Amino acid sequence: MTFQEQIKQGIPSELPSEKIYNSDINHAPKRKEILSRVEKELALRNALRYFDEKHHSVLAKEFSEELKKYGRIYMHRFRPDYKMYARPINEYPGKCEQAKAIMHMIQNNLDYAVAQHPHELITYGGNGAVFQNWAQYLLAMQYLSEMTNDQTLVIYSGHSMGLFPSHKNAPRVVVTNGMMIPNYSKQDDWEKYNALGVTQYGQMTAGSYMYIGPQGIVHGTTITVLNAGRKIAKKGEDLAGKLFLTSGLGGMSGAQPKAGNIAGCITVCAEVNPKITEIRLSQGWIDEKITDLDALVVRVKKAKESKEVISIAYLGNIVEVWEKLDEENVYVDLGSDQTSLHNPWAGGYYPVGISFEEANEMMANKPNLFKDKVQESLRRQAIAINKHTAKGTYFFDYGNAFLLEASRAGADIMAENGLDFKYPSYVQDIMGPMCFDYGFGPFRWVCTSADPSDLEKTDKIACEVLEEIMKNSPKEIQQQMADNIQWIKGAQENKLVVGSQARILYADAEGRMKIAEAFNNAVKRGEMIDPIVLGRDHHDVSGTDSPYRETSNIYDGSQFTADMAIQNVIGDSFRGATWVSIHNGGGVGWGEVINGGFGMVLDGSIEAEKRLKSMLFWDVNNGIARRNWARNKGAIFTAKRAMKAEPKLKITLPNLVDDTLLQNLF
Ligand SMILES: NC(=O)c1ccc[n+]([C@@H]2O[C@H](COP(=O)([O-])OP(=O)(O)OC[C@H]3O[C@@H](n4cnc5c(N)ncnc54)[C@H](O)[C@@H]3O)[C@@H](O)[C@H]2O)c1
Repeated sequence: MTFQEQIKQGIPSELPSEKIYNSDINHAPKRKEILSRVEKELALRNALRYFDEKHHSVLAKEFSEELKKYGRIYMHRFRPDYKMYARPINEYPGKCEQAKAIMHMIQNNLDYAVAQHPHELITYGGNGAVFQNWAQYLLAMQYLSEMTNDQTLVIYSGHSMGLFPSHKNAPRVVVTNGMMIPNYSKQDDWEKYNALGVTQYGQMTAGSYMYIGPQGIVHGTTITVLNAGRKIAKKGEDLAGKLFLTSGLGGMSGAQPKAGNIAGCITVCAEVNPKITEIRLSQGWIDEKITDLDALVVRVKKAKESKEVISIAYLGNIVEVWEKLDEENVYVDLGSDQTSLHNPWAGGYYPVGISFEEANEMMANKPNLFKDKVQESLRRQAIAINKHTAKGTYFFDYGNAFLLEASRAGADIMAENGLDFKYPSYVQDIMGPMCFDYGFGPFRWVCTSADPSDLEKTDKIACEVLEEIMKNSPKEIQQQMADNIQWIKGAQENKLVVGSQARILYADAEGRMKIAEAFNNAVKRGEMIDPIVLGRDHHDVSGTDSPYRETSNIYDGSQFTADMAIQNVIGDSFRGATWVSIHNGGGVGWGEVINGGFGMVLDGSIEAEKRLKSMLFWDVNNGIARRNWARNKGAIFTAKRAMKAEPKLKITLPNLVDDTLLQNLF
C-alpha cells in the first residue's frame, strides 16, 4: 500500500502485525500505576472504541499488557511502517491545501530526528504529546485527507471528535489539549485521566503541531544568554571566557550549548541520559562530552584561560557539577537549570545520588520514595547554587519550574519577604521587559515544499524586511532589531534545521506582518511554489498566561488569571488562523499555565493577505494591551505606537499612581 493509501485508510480494518519493542529508540519512562481495577477496565473500554469489535479479544489483552508495562496504552501495533517526516506538501493526499500543510506539521512533530519519544508520540518535555495513541494519529490524518475547505476538524486532546461543517475562512482545525475543570488539574489528575485515555499534556508546540526542533528554542536561548551576559558585563565586555553552567540536553534544553556558542561563552551542560547526550553530540549541538568531574574542572579551567568558545556536556547529575565547581573554586558567571521540573515525579528531574536506571525504576515502582529523593536533591542543588551566587554568579530560573519545585521541597530559595524567590526568572529579568513588552516573540515559518532553497529565499526576504524596518525603528527597539538581523543573517551558516525546513525569528507585530506579507507575495509571484506555514511558540507576548514564566513580569495580580490566552485563541480563530490550539500546562506543568497558539497557511492569495494582517496584528497587540494595563513601561510605549499605526485600535491605557499617596492608608 502506498503512503497516500495508508493515510486515506485511517485505522486499518485488518490488524497490522505486532511491533517489536526497539530499545535503540529513546522511550518515555514507565508512568506510575495510578488506576484502580475498575478504572483500568475503563481505560481498556476507552481504547477499544477505536476498533471493530472483531479485534477486541486480541487487542484487550495486548492493551492491558501495555497499560501494565508502560502505564499507558500507546497502541504500538498501529504505529505506521512508513517513514515519519515532513514530506513535501504535494505528497499528502487530500482536497484541501491547508489540511495537507497541517499533515506536514504533524509528521514533523513525530519525526524520529525531532521527537523525544517518537514511539510514544511525545515530541518534547518528557510528556509533550501530539496524540495519546496511534489510533488517534491515524484517525486525524485520515480526516485531514478527507476534509474540504468548508469543514473544521475538532480535536480534543489528540482525539478527533470529527469533521464539522464551517466555512472557508474558519480554522481548518481547532485543538484543545488537557483542558480540565480547574479543580481537576493537579499532577496526579494528569496521570489518571491520561492513563484513562481522555486527556493529554500537549506542552506548547507538541500538541499544536508547531514544533520545529531545537532551533525554535536556540534563538530565544541565544537572546536570553546574550542579554544575561549584558546584565553582568562591565563596560565594553562581552561573554568571552565567561562560564555558563546549566543542565539538560533534551528537547528545548539541548539548545543551550548551541546558543552559548553563538553568544560566545563557555557552556557546561549536565545531562543524565546517555542516549540523549550521544544524540546531541552526533548532531553537533555540543562540542565535547566529559564523564568525569575532575576532567571537567581541568577542561573548564583551560577554556577559561584561553577564552575558548566551547560547549561541554557533562554526562551526570547537575547537582554534582554545582558542588564540584564550588569546591574547586571555579567561578560560574551565568547559571541556570533546564531539567524538566514541570514534570518532577515522572522523569523530568533525576535526583542526585542514584543512577539513571535506578531512578527510572524507582519512579514507577516506589513513587513516594522517588518524590523524597527529588526533593532532597533539589534542596542540595539550591544549597550549592546559593554558594555560587554568594560569590557573584547571576542565576536565573529558565521557566522549568525549578524555583517553584525547589520551594515546594523546602529549599532555601525564597527571598526575604517570603513571597518572592531569591532569583529572577528569565522572563522577569530578560524576556519580559526586553522582548514581550515590546511585542517581540518567537515568530516562525515552515516551507511546506521541504526544499532548503525555499528556506534560503525566505531567510533573505525576512532579513531585507527587517533591515528596512530598522531604518525607522525607535531607539527603544534598536538593540532587538540588531540582534534579530544578526540572527537571521547567521541562520544558514549555523545549520539549525532539524526536521522540516523551518526558521524562527523573533519579531514584533510590524516585523511579523511585513515578513508574512512579503512571503505571501513571493508565493503569489511564483518565487516559491508551495505554501508557507506561519506560526509561533506559545511562549510569546500574548499566547500564554503563566505566573512563573511568560507573565511573571506582570505585577498587578493578574498573572494568576488566564483571560489573555483564552482571548487570544478565540481572537485568532475568527481573524483567519488556519488552526488554533489552547492547552493546559505547557512548559511549567499541568495546572500551572494556560497557553495557546496558531498556524496559518500562506498560499499567495488575497484572502491570505487579509488574514495575515488581521490576525497577526491582534495576535501580538492583545498581549501588548494586557501588559500595558499591568503598567509595564515597554508595553505602554508599544501600545501607543500601535494605536498610531492603526487608527481603528483603541487600547485602554492605565493611569499611574504616585506611590507616596498609598503610604499609611491601611
Ligand atoms: N528553552 C527554553 O526556552 C525553555 C523555556 C521555558 C521553559 N523551558 C523548560 O525547560 C525544561 C526542559 O525542557 P526540555 O524540552 O529540554 O525537556 P526534556 O525533558 O527534553 O529535557 C530535560 C533533560 O534534563 C535531564 N535531566 C533531568 N534531571 C537531571 C539532572 N538532575 N541532572 C542532569 N540532567 C537532568 C533529562 O534527562 C532530560 O534530558 C522544561 O521544563 C521546559 O518547560 C525551556
